[in-house]
Formats: sequence, C-alpha cells, structure tokens
Amino acid sequence: MTVHGSPWSGVEVVAHRGASADEPEHTLAAYRHAVRLGADAVECDVRLTRDGVLVCVHDRRVDRTSTGRGVISALDLADLERFDYGRATASRRARLRRRARAANQEPLDRPGRLLTLERLLDYVTSTPGGVRLAIETKHPTRHSVQVEAELVVTLRRFGLLDGDRPVEWAGRPAVRVMSFSPGALRRVRALVPGMPTVQLMGQLTPWMRTAGLPPANTAVGPSVALIRRDPSYVRVAQQAGAEVHVWTVNRPQDVEFVLSLGVDAVITDHPGTLLARLGRG
Ligand code: G3P
Ligand code: CA
Repeated sequence: MTVHGSPWSGVEVVAHRGASADEPEHTLAAYRHAVRLGADAVECDVRLTRDGVLVCVHDRRVDRTSTGRGVISALDLADLERFDYGRATASRRARLRRRARAANQEPLDRPGRLLTLERLLDYVTSTPGGVRLAIETKHPTRHSVQVEAELVVTLRRFGLLDGDRPVEWAGRPAVRVMSFSPGALRRVRALVPGMPTVQLMGQLTPWMRTAGLPPANTAVGPSVALIRRDPSYVRVAQQAGAEVHVWTVNRPQDVEFVLSLGVDAVITDHPGTLLARLGRG
C-alpha cells in the first residue's frame, strides 16, 4: 500500500444522499443536515419521471424509500408526490421539529416530501457559501439521452453553469457529474465540455487492469471494496492526473484505510463522523 505524506489534508467530505445515516436519504432534511454539519459537498442520484422531471431517488422503484410502489420512469411527478419519502417515525419527525426550533430555523413543511432536483438546487443555491454538488445520473430504460439534457438545462437555469463549465465556489467547480455509464459522461461533456466528470467503478474495469484511466474524466470513483483489492490504483490514478473519489465509506476501518491512501474525496453516509475524525467537526 502506498501512503502519501499529509494523507488527509484537504480531503473533501461528501455526504452520500445527504447526511443519510441521520435523516432519510435524498430528503431535504438530509441535505440540510449535511450542510449544518459542514460537509464540503453533497451527493445526489437523479432519475427522470414519466413526464420528464428530474427527481432525487436512488432506486429504479420507490418501494424501499417511500410509502408508495412503482417504477419512477413509469409514473408522473404528480403520482410520485403522493408518497412519503421520509419513512420517518413519529419520534424522528418530532426530533426534526425540535432541532429546527432550537436552531431557529423554519421547520420543514413536509419532512418526507419528494425531493426534485429543482428543490435541491433551490436550497443549495440559497445556502450561504454554497455546498458543492456531486450529481449521479441513473438510467431508467424509458429515458436515456434525456437525463443528461434535462440535467444541463436545469443547472443552467439555476445559474450553475458559466458557458461551457460550472461556476466556481471557493475556487472549485460547484458541480460535477458522476455515472457508472461512460456513455452518459460522454454525453454530459458533449453538452458542457468543461464539466468535471467522475467515472464510477463498482468492479474491476479494463482501465484498472491496464493501470490506466477512463478517458477524459477528471476523477475516478471506485468503491471502497475495489480499493481494498487494489490500493495502488489510488496512486496510479492520481499520478495520471485524476482525482480519486471513493464510495461509500462508512466503517471506521475503511475511513482510516482510504485516508491513509490520500484519496481526494470520501463519499459517506456519516459526514459528521468523518468531519470529527478530520478535526473539522
Ligand atoms: O457516490 C457513488 C455512489 O453513490 C454509487 O453507488 O449505489 O450509492 O448510487 P450508489
Ligand atoms: Ca449514488
């Protein structure tokens, strides 16, 4: 294993689906909590509804994370809005209300409300200092090219693009796009040539076998399991000029392991714990 000097200075803390260990994933509550904790960036999965609206949901179906059932790409926004995505217990809702009151914040109107990409961008762009966005495009079979096109149009509408690149916050791009699909990332770069893209990797890829990089991406996004199998890939990728963003790093021993390798970004359900570990909590 290669251990870099000053291994965790400057590592970016990315809240996976918001601060999803503490609040229901992909809800506004989870993103607000990530910002309160001080996360550098938030990760979000996007899918298209049947009527062409980008919503922040991980699975192809809503069954696991809401009170409803069905495939997102086969339902309209109005259908999806009927379900509760908080899957929150009464005590969790009470805790949210107490926390909001204590922090003198507006309580959430509907803690379990479906989060559309627009609602997330509305929140992020009105957050002082801004929190960077790592948006992952998922690929419902009914739509393909449309996901990237709609994403770019939406980012532009919120002022997050400046010509052919994202605007910068604190000297870093405010947005990047991630995907397991090289084709999706190519389509994003065709639309916005200066968009940073992250090639996600859940298994050994031809690029890793040849100790190379997926072409044209600014970063690679291996799973922590993959990096455990081949820790030297972190150094190889960085020396070739790519950042390394590892997911989903939740176990304390995995946190220590990826920090020791000097990765550039750690994507975690527990941003508060990681920030405390880094002395930033
Ligand atoms: O951040 C990358 C990671 O989110 C990829 O896996 O399944 O959680 O979307 P998944
Ligand atoms: Ca994801």
